[in-house]
Amino acid sequence: MKNSLDSLVKDAKVIAIVCNQWGDTGKGKFSEYFANNWADVVVSGTGGNNAGHTVKIEDQEFIFHLIPCGALNEKTANIIGNGTAVDPIVLMKEMDDLKKQGYSLNNIFISGDAHFITPLEIFFDIMEDKFSGIGTTCRGIGPSYAMKISRIGVRINDLFNEELFAEKLEKNLEKYLCIARNVYKLSDEQIADIFRHKNIGGDYLNGNKVDIKKIISVYQEAALKFKEKVTNTVYLINKMIYSGKNVLLEGAQGTLLSIEFGTYPYVTSSDCSITGLLQGCGINPSKLDLTFGIVKWPYMTRVGGGPFPTEISNESLDKGENKETEKRFKLDELLKAGDPVSLRRYLRIKGNESGATTGRPRRPGWIDLVALKWSLMQNGKDIIITKPDVCSELDEINMCFSYTYCGQDTYYDGQTFEKGKMVHQFPTSANILSHCRPNYITLKGWKQAISKIETYEDLPKEMRIALEKTELETVASIRMISVGPERRQTIVK
Ligand code: IMP
Repeated sequence: MKNSLDSLVKDAKVIAIVCNQWGDTGKGKFSEYFANNWADVVVSGTGGNNAGHTVKIEDQEFIFHLIPCGALNEKTANIIGNGTAVDPIVLMKEMDDLKKQGYSLNNIFISGDAHFITPLEIFFDIMEDKFSGIGTTCRGIGPSYAMKISRIGVRINDLFNEELFAEKLEKNLEKYLCIARNVYKLSDEQIADIFRHKNIGGDYLNGNKVDIKKIISVYQEAALKFKEKVTNTVYLINKMIYSGKNVLLEGAQGTLLSIEFGTYPYVTSSDCSITGLLQGCGINPSKLDLTFGIVKWPYMTRVGGGPFPTEISNESLDKGENKETEKRFKLDELLKAGDPVSLRRYLRIKGNESGATTGRPRRPGWIDLVALKWSLMQNGKDIIITKPDVCSELDEINMCFSYTYCGQDTYYDGQTFEKGKMVHQFPTSANILSHCRPNYITLKGWKQAISKIETYEDLPKEMRIALEKTELETVASIRMISVGPERRQTIVK
């Protein structure tokens, strides 16, 4: 396998892994795969603990939120880049958990310019999400980036300047409370209730009042624990590139959730395409040798709100469902029933589709080639296919190659969208996209277990036909195929 990986990456020195869909496609597995087989350093540059990468090695499962996946390899350096949003309490917990499992974490570096999440941003995220209905992870990501762009954010470096940190936090609290009281008309009790939300915990309250002094002291104390890991990561990464190290850039979320290229406003607040990742790591684009875009196939998922044209059945089914309640369903019965509701449940249970960060059920749907073509314009043509094994027992699979517009007449992107219009370009407007119905090509399923297959040629014929159709339709080149969650279940094409 090492030989085929060598021939795939050839002389590449900087490789990026991003997701071409709505996240949760298995980037973690491939970051870890490259970290273990190739990289000297793994860098993250976007998002924060809204992300969750799951890595499975033999019997052990690791879920990373902030620390790059290279942390499992003692020789690999791990850098949290300037474009990330860091919650220090989450970072400390993640570090402590890994240390308990025997990892030294000597090789972790954190950008002093990365922005910072405090309970104030989490509070604001929870409050705004109730009104926007975006379905964020409520981890404070959006407000932290909003403060950054408004030029009133708090950077990691600010943490070590006690006075400046306290001053910034006090101002931010004033602003957030003003909005809570005057825009959202919340009482002090309602505000306090939000501070009791599980993502914050009631610790920062004194009665119903927000105890800003406590926030300041807890966060400064946490910061002291990782003080020596803070550095100018842009210099660090660029020095590593110049000295010929193998550098892996680890994307977060997915391009369809990008603030620039995603289904606005149902997006996250950073640009999770390759462009945003490069910026968030501080790397000149000409230094990038290869980008692999991950594609969950032939089904895909989305978590949180927002349009999803190829969704199978609909979200209302998920209310009250979780890993526990799902246990009452039997996979073979769901498969036999074959209706969309059963198929939705089947894919979710078989694919273990619950958010790694929030545990929320993910919404499953068929592979959308219109959306994929859109993401490929940003991320390039080299793709990695993940989770086809989840669909190995299906009689047939669907791939969406265009949409039919079914909404009211609307002027959009310089043209009138009217009922019945065939749509071949991905509309990033959530409003337009929510009125797009998918047109499918239906192909025969392969009906054969694939988890132990080691070469492309040995994959079932029907599966290769569907993969080649995907390549032809999108002009993508499939470089690797994951046939199971484990590191070794990887085919290099
Ligand atoms: P936020 O990033 O918490 O602001 O959430 C904005 C949207 O992005 C919501 O729909 C989230 O469910 C989604 N989202 C954020 N992070 C992830 C991720 O790592 N995987 C999948 N969806 C995500």
